[in-house]
Amino acid sequence: MPTTVTLTSASPLSDRVLAMNESATIAMAKKCRELIAKGFDVINLSFGEPDFQTPQYIKDAAKQALDEGYTFYTPVPGIPELRQAICDKFKRDNQLDFLPNQIVVSTGAKQALANVVLSLVNPGDEVIVFSPYWVSYEEMVRLAEGTSVPLVGTLENDYKVTAAQLEAAITERTKLIMYSSPCNPTGAVFTRAELEEIAAVMSRHPQVYALADEIYEYINFVGEHVSLAQFPAVKDRVITVNGFSKGYAMTGWRLGYLAARPDIAAACDKMQSQITSGTCSITQRAGLAALRGGRTSADEMVEAYRRRRDLVLDIVKDIPGFKTPTPSGAFYIFPEVSAYFGRTAPDGSTIRNSLDLALYLLNDALVSAVSGEAFGAPECLRFSTAAADDKLVEAFRRVKASLAKL
Ligand SMILES: Cc1ncc(COP(=O)(O)O)c(C=O)c1O
Repeated sequence: MPTTVTLTSASPLSDRVLAMNESATIAMAKKCRELIAKGFDVINLSFGEPDFQTPQYIKDAAKQALDEGYTFYTPVPGIPELRQAICDKFKRDNQLDFLPNQIVVSTGAKQALANVVLSLVNPGDEVIVFSPYWVSYEEMVRLAEGTSVPLVGTLENDYKVTAAQLEAAITERTKLIMYSSPCNPTGAVFTRAELEEIAAVMSRHPQVYALADEIYEYINFVGEHVSLAQFPAVKDRVITVNGFSKGYAMTGWRLGYLAARPDIAAACDKMQSQITSGTCSITQRAGLAALRGGRTSADEMVEAYRRRRDLVLDIVKDIPGFKTPTPSGAFYIFPEVSAYFGRTAPDGSTIRNSLDLALYLLNDALVSAVSGEAFGAPECLRFSTAAADDKLVEAFRRVKASLAKL
């Protein structure tokens, strides 16, 4: 949850870091681990992490790289074979043509996003962040001294921002728009028609760039994944970010990438060269094997995610006061829970907001979720559905019982 930090001249720390909020998901997971360490049977649904192991053929490629002594620095934007394989992936999955000099491989999609924001945003530039948004977008914009302008989608539209909303929000200071599709936290997926309209708005505003975060591309229950870069009028102004964490269950390996116009890719390469250099050599070889292996392993995992989504939706539809859109992708549910605000907990305390509700559920149901506040939606809670079926059933049984006490 966001921590409020008091700026004090006595602190040796920079204003930059003092103004920054700790990642809410990481903070909740930390609390959860503390309770588990004390022996409580907590079910952690606060983390955005597949519960699957990385497929064996990917692990084998990493072992082989290590055995071959593949332990040296790599080129900053990634090894040539991997950049080429990423171009091949864009062609195969997204019908997009990129050359390797348009690809920058990074330490997770998170670094790719940060590279782009830091390379494009000047102090005072406005960045329109489609809301609810992934927790780190706002902090990255703040770090770049930009002004983030959350643009809120409505529950009725599955929280998807419309082209008309975008048109109305663009000013002459707008530099960038940022969104994820499939979306973390809502699971919403933009359709071709919706993205076409967004591209049409962008083509009327030539100073506006878009950062399309497609990290959940493979975890899609509706079928068609559309990239904003597929619309020729805006392709040069779209930076597409993707990675291996979600689709290939490779969170700990730290591997992501971006595709952009050559000058923007070169700027991101320069940014990365001064901060981390190329990501881990072994990880890159694993990523190469992952891409060459196609998406079969991801498709198998998607079936499990779909089953779990349906399982959970079936339980939560009977929880009074939960308004839960059906996610089209990713592995979260994002119910609107404001019906519980103002109610009294058994210990006499009042549930004032979603943060209080998340803490109540952690303590009473031993289930951890994340307050929607960190995602720009303070009336919601995010539960991950990336857990075993029996754990999910037990978790939502407990949630239902605890909510009934309010
Ligand atoms: C929408 C979104 N973008 C980016 C990331 C970062 O992914 P990575 O593990 O590749 O840094 C995440 C991870 O939770 C995410 O949910």
